Amino acid sequence: MEYEENHVLSPDRKLTEAEQSLVWKKPASHRTSVEERRICKEVKRNWQRGEMKIATILLEGDAGSGKTQLAKALSADFGLPYTKVTCFADMDKTDVIGAILPVIASERLAKLAPEDGQLLQALYESDGFQSATHVLSALLNISSEEAAVKAKRLMKLAVEQAEGDTVEYRFYPSEIVNAFRNGYLLEIQEPTVIRDAAVLMALNSALEPDGSINLPTEVIHRHPDFVAIITTNRGYAGVRPLNEALRDRVQHTEKMDLPGKAVMIERVTAKTGYLNTRVMDVLADTILLLDQTARAHAIKGVAGMRSFFFWTDAVACGIGAKESLYHKVIYKLTTDPDEIKLLEEALERRGLFAALDAAEADIEAVLEAERGEERTARSSPDEEAIEIKSWGAIDSRAAGCRQGRRRNRVEEVRRQRRGRHRDFR
Ligand SMILES: Nc1ncnc2c1ncn2[C@@H]1O[C@H](COP(=O)(O)OP(=O)(O)O)[C@@H](O)[C@H]1O
Ligand SMILES: [Mg+2]
Repeated sequence: MEYEENHVLSPDRKLTEAEQSLVWKKPASHRTSVEERRICKEVKRNWQRGEMKIATILLEGDAGSGKTQLAKALSADFGLPYTKVTCFADMDKTDVIGAILPVIASERLAKLAPEDGQLLQALYESDGFQSATHVLSALLNISSEEAAVKAKRLMKLAVEQAEGDTVEYRFYPSEIVNAFRNGYLLEIQEPTVIRDAAVLMALNSALEPDGSINLPTEVIHRHPDFVAIITTNRGYAGVRPLNEALRDRVQHTEKMDLPGKAVMIERVTAKTGYLNTRVMDVLADTILLLDQTARAHAIKGVAGMRSFFFWTDAVACGIGAKESLYHKVIYKLTTDPDEIKLLEEALERRGLFAALDAAEADIEAVLEAERGEERTARSSPDEEAIEIKSWGAIDSRAAGCRQGRRRNRVEEVRRQRRGRHRDFR
């Protein structure tokens, strides 16, 4: 379902082609959540209200609850380019502001190790639209944290090579500065991990409503369209809370929990194309109980939407629900035998192992029905037409495997004919 209402914040603004390409395009599998609707309404309502403008938002909650996707969806809703900064423990001020790089002569460049020389050359040739970290991370296909470390090493190398005779310096603004100056939507992922207080202070002042950032080259002011979305996982053991001053800058907050069962199933269906709601219902209950049990016993791993996607996909492709439960869900939570036992006991008490057996039997019954359908279809061309039509509809949503699609197809045909719903618990 597309979100129809218009929440573009600055309809008259002209984005460049490069900027336009950064505006997120919602995939067909995206489902608009209540949180997305609420934020859109709130931000739009206050956009022209001066001091009441809402432009710093906090999404705090469970891993996999959809924080990043919500930030991206808001980029689409607001018509703003999406950029992100993934925070890491050793972030320093150059990661917030940007870095100065001396431009060294090509004969000096040639004295460096070939890879370093090439990387520096690539940085000199970049158009300044992206941060040094971004350029390196895209070029080498590495994480932004690794790229930040590499960028710093290259800076150091360039300074050493220059041996004091540099005439030119280039400034590479950070992703944060780019978004701040040009009016993009910036997701700030997990600022809780930042250790250096000076970095937090720099971030805080950037988030002031009429803030400015002091660069070595100039002072830049906050673009009126700059929107910051802070995303953070709540309260796992060992995770520090969000810095209080940063939290205080926030003008709207959403508590992002693992979505309810209906939404979980809706998202899984949208992503995998699997349609057997009776089976997904049991898988969702299992995930929810494991999530609850893991929290109660301070088990570190996560049982959430990501496990649910991959588990359903495996089940849809004919891998046993109980067997894949371990590889897609339980071992991701823990591989400690005592903890596994705790989780198994919880499932047993709630009758979920029996329900999973019944789900497997149900899948088998669907398969059996499929054989029957195929036999009937061979003797009745009309019904074949129904089947192909429904398969096509599901196939376009990219069901992961042929067998799964065939089962879906049979499920669909059965539903169309009988609309029957059976609960096997
Ligand atoms: N509104 C949504 N509609 C469909 N799928 C979603 C939605 N929100 C999240 N998802 C899916 O759930 C998974 C986890 O979402 P993500 O945004 O990465 O979670 P988080 O950032 O909270 O850890 C992703 O695979 C994502 O595509
Ligand atoms: Mg995320």
